Amino acid sequence: MEKREQMYEGKAKKVFATDDPNLCIVSYKDDATAFNGLKKGTIAGKGVINNRVTNYLMGKLEAEGIPTHFVEELSERDTLVRRVSIVPLEVIVRNIAAGSFSKRFGVQEGTDLQCPTLEFCLKDDDLGDPMVNEYHIYACGWATKEEVETIKDITFRVNEYLKNYFAAIGILLVDFKLEFGKTADGKIVLADEISPDTCRFWDMETREKLDKDRFRRDLGNVEDAYQEICRRLLGE
Ligand code: TMP
Repeated sequence: MEKREQMYEGKAKKVFATDDPNLCIVSYKDDATAFNGLKKGTIAGKGVINNRVTNYLMGKLEAEGIPTHFVEELSERDTLVRRVSIVPLEVIVRNIAAGSFSKRFGVQEGTDLQCPTLEFCLKDDDLGDPMVNEYHIYACGWATKEEVETIKDITFRVNEYLKNYFAAIGILLVDFKLEFGKTADGKIVLADEISPDTCRFWDMETREKLDKDRFRRDLGNVEDAYQEICRRLLGE
């Protein structure tokens, strides 16, 4: 399958059309941004790692019966996916308080949450991805009630599976962000990526951060952290 015209360029990936109207190719970049694009940089080799890690995890989730957009890894940075219209919501799950949750609610980073939480944010950089609730989603038509139920159900299943999977390789899944797409026939599938860009991963023993917080917070050893996640997951 060959890349045809570029359909879209995001902050971390490009999306290309293919000759099949139901398929497109995502191409992972090394570009990194934080704070809705205010902080910019590159993380050498990030695109290759995020492509591998995402596809590996999507494959595992598919095997668990979770529908995803993943079709086939084409190369180091390129993956064939089902063409979907992206639901304009970021779905955030948290197991341990960190980041904006700690800031907003005054809960110390690292506090275990008594149950997983779920937040919806509107995908709109100009507005700073504001948090929205289900009433907002229905009122503005960003998704239907049925779609939101499906999204919540898939999201918590993904959390349970990934939490256990990462625990087995000595990593705490602190929180993560998912995005969903709708296929031409109206089916909701997991889309976008699952990577150190979109998850917080802490080493279980040392609580060392192994994710994009190293870039966001200028902690150094950013590339090493991404490589460590790849190594623990895929052994490479
Ligand atoms: P937050 O604590 O900054 O709200 O982030 C929660 C999780 O969502 C964290 O794992 C990082 C991820 N995330 C993204 O993938 N994209 C974003 O734009 C933001 C703000 C967070």
